Amino acid sequence: MPDQDFRIAETAKYRVLLVDDDQNLLDSFRRMLKDEFDIFSAEDGQEALDVMDTCGPFTVIVSDLKMPGMDGIELLSRVSRTHPDTVRILLTGHADMQAAMDASNKGYVYRFLTKPCPPDLLRLTLSDACRHAQLLRDQRELFALKHCKVLLEGIVRGFSTLVEARDAYLAGHQQRVTALALAMGREMGLSADELDTLRIAGLLHDIGKVYVPADFLNRPGILRAEELSVIQMHPEVGYDILKHLDQDWPVAVIIRQHHERMDGSGYPQGLNGRFITQGARILAVADVVDAMCSHRPYRPSLGITAALAEIEKNRGRLYDERAANVCLMLFRERGYRLEGALIEP
Ligand SMILES: [Fe+2]
Repeated sequence: MPDQDFRIAETAKYRVLLVDDDQNLLDSFRRMLKDEFDIFSAEDGQEALDVMDTCGPFTVIVSDLKMPGMDGIELLSRVSRTHPDTVRILLTGHADMQAAMDASNKGYVYRFLTKPCPPDLLRLTLSDACRHAQLLRDQRELFALKHCKVLLEGIVRGFSTLVEARDAYLAGHQQRVTALALAMGREMGLSADELDTLRIAGLLHDIGKVYVPADFLNRPGILRAEELSVIQMHPEVGYDILKHLDQDWPVAVIIRQHHERMDGSGYPQGLNGRFITQGARILAVADVVDAMCSHRPYRPSLGITAALAEIEKNRGRLYDERAANVCLMLFRERGYRLEGALIEP
């Protein structure tokens, strides 16, 4: 298992394990380095492995080559397997140079130093090793973060498909709405983080429909009042599903508000415009355009001209004025099309 943290806190010293059968040398190294590093020591290979298991993790291990029992190369090769994040330095005499180079070529050793090692060179090498360890740790965290993002992307798209699979008339709707909302968001100068939030909210904005019976969603004809009220619960249900992921993540709030209207006539909360987040205002416009252009169980598609006329007629009253203007501009001046629009991660 990779070591978790080399330092207890950011201000704490890096932890170094010195291994040598010469107790006098260990004492002098300790005196020399104790102000800059948190120094531990061991007198042979087995003791070093025990110290690593009980007191680790260590940022750096510095081992003598020639020791009774397990030699330095054997020790560092074992450490490379059991504690791969600990940077390994070999101390060797001139006569053992070939063995040290072999160990370095095999990847057991980050650097080797020859005895007697000048204090400044040891200090400099330890500082380099600590920077190297920190760099490796940062790279691993970045990799883990990227992996999490890929996982999240897969989960979001999986849920998006799941909701649409229950409603024949919803097929592709969330993707088209997301693509349009992102195009609008870019024109409106949203940051990369805001666009990413908008993208996930767009892909999941109707997730609350998983609680609506499928025959309500797919039945032709006008819905009864009680059926309509169940469908109108979907923004709140979507919010309930996603709100536990992260309280500071606005995705759930955007989903809750995507049917709110600027004059307070929307649902579920009947919020006035100034309480509606920007992401929800953008999503609302994109949602209406795509919904009006899609076939519904109770009516055929109304077409893009009617959809844009609706946005134009009610901009500033039902729909955010700026979002509405950007949407109209995209379709009328930039030739934007709902079909074939791509969602960039
Ligand atoms: Fe919706």
